Amino acid sequence: MNFINGIALDGPAGAGKSTIAKIIAKRLGLPYLDTGAMYRAMALCALSEGVSLTDAESVDELLRRTDIQVAYLADGQHVLVNGADVTGRLREEEIGKGASLISKLRCVRDKLAGMQRDIAHETHAVLDGREIGTFVIPETPYKFYITATPEERAMRRIRQLEEKGEKSDYESILGDILARDYQDSHRDYAPLKQAEDAVLIDTTHLSIEEAVETVLKALEER
Ligand code: DC
Repeated sequence: MNFINGIALDGPAGAGKSTIAKIIAKRLGLPYLDTGAMYRAMALCALSEGVSLTDAESVDELLRRTDIQVAYLADGQHVLVNGADVTGRLREEEIGKGASLISKLRCVRDKLAGMQRDIAHETHAVLDGREIGTFVIPETPYKFYITATPEERAMRRIRQLEEKGEKSDYESILGDILARDYQDSHRDYAPLKQAEDAVLIDTTHLSIEEAVETVLKALEER
C-alpha cells in the first residue's frame, strides 16, 4: 500500500495514540513522527531561556533564532534544539503542560506544522498529535481519531506511574487530564478535534493489539 501524504492519528493525551502509532509504523515499515515531542522541545527551550510560554512576541523571536531538528537513531526519534539532544527531558510532566500552553501560539504551530507536513510528504510517515488530520495533512485519506474516557486514561497513567514506583493520586491526575483536554480542544487556532473523515477508535475497552488491528483493517479498506 502507498500511504502518500502520511497517516494521521489524533486524539487527547493518554488515549494510546503513540503506542498504537509506533506499532503501525513498524508493521508498515514507515517512519513514526511524535509531533508532541516537537512542541515539548519548544516549551523546554522557552522555559530554559526564561521566555514566557504565553508571550507571542517573545516566543516568535525565540523561534526565529532556534533550530529544531528531528533525527532518527537506533532507539527511535530524537529532537535536537540548536544541535543539543533534548529527548531525555521531554516526557517530564511540566514540559507536557508547557507544550500544551505554547502550542496555542500561531507562530509555534505554523513553524512546527510546516516541518511535520514536509516530513509526512517526503516519508509518508505515521504522525500522532492533536490536529494532524484537520490541519497538518488534511489532504490525507488516512485519518484516525483515537480516544478513551478521561477516567480510563487516568487509570492508565496511574498504572504507568506505579510501574515506575512513583506515587499517584487519581483525583489530581484526572483533573490534569480534563484540564489538558479543555486547553487542547478550546484553543483558537487548529484545536484538537476529530476530522469529519477520520475513523473513530475508542480504546476504553480495547487492548492495544485490538486497536492496532482496527487501524490496519481500516487502512486496508481505504
Ligand atoms: O502528545 P503530547 O502529550 O506529547 O503533546 C503535548 C502537547 O503538545 C499537547 O497537550 C498539545 C501540543 N500538541 C499539539 O498542539 N499538536 C500536536 N500535533 C502535538 C502536540
